[in-house]
Amino acid sequence: MHLEIVKDYETLSKRAAYILASQIILKPASVLGLATGSTPVGTYRELVKIYNEGLISFSRVITINLDEYYGLDKDDEQSYHYFMREHLFNHVDIKDENINIPDGKAVDVEAECRRYENIIEAVGGIDLQLLGIGQNGHIGFNEPGEHFEALTHLVDLTENTIKANARFFSSPEEVPTQAISMGIKSIMGAKKILLLASGEKKAGAVYKMLKGKITPQVPASVLQMHPDVVVLVDEGAASLL
Ligand code: GLP
Repeated sequence: MHLEIVKDYETLSKRAAYILASQIILKPASVLGLATGSTPVGTYRELVKIYNEGLISFSRVITINLDEYYGLDKDDEQSYHYFMREHLFNHVDIKDENINIPDGKAVDVEAECRRYENIIEAVGGIDLQLLGIGQNGHIGFNEPGEHFEALTHLVDLTENTIKANARFFSSPEEVPTQAISMGIKSIMGAKKILLLASGEKKAGAVYKMLKGKITPQVPASVLQMHPDVVVLVDEGAASLL
């Protein structure tokens, strides 16, 4: 894994946006695996700036998002569909048909998970996967204990994750308790991975991911096995290294 430590969140966001932009320049029809959460918000903002400067186009880009809360409609303001439109898709020239996010309202969840995996396969796999990391080391919504072999599936969120994500909802009771998430195996299938972490709250997870034992108890630790990972962190998230 290649570790890059930058000063602060602003620098991290710019650097991450440059890496995504260079992927698009090198391969205009790139398949980007995208993430949500507060960490990539700055990255998307910087990417939109680069787009507005006319340096990149999303007209041939295909996106595959990591996850979606189960039970939330696409138009729900807390859904990851909404988040992605708000922070990226509404501001660039991406084609609607090239956007992929699990359907949180799917009635047949297993069929939805199969459909999602088929898309990843049909587009030839993910070229560059953007990831955040949960305080408990989760990636996507793969919580501690998840099998490394898992593909897209329905997950039960842990108390820790529900609490951490409650800040986006009016109360913890409103946070969905399940999500449809790409599995560890789907994530590991990406050709390149860029993981972002910012702030001291993530320092423990970052330390375990990079220096700890590879174990399903710290899902991000599996990334030690991947051939091409950039871990981009700010000084806060690097404070235990
Ligand atoms: C959620 C998302 C993850 C994200 C994590 C951390 O659980 N499913 O993809 O990495 O939150 O979020 P934040 O960046 O807000 O700390």
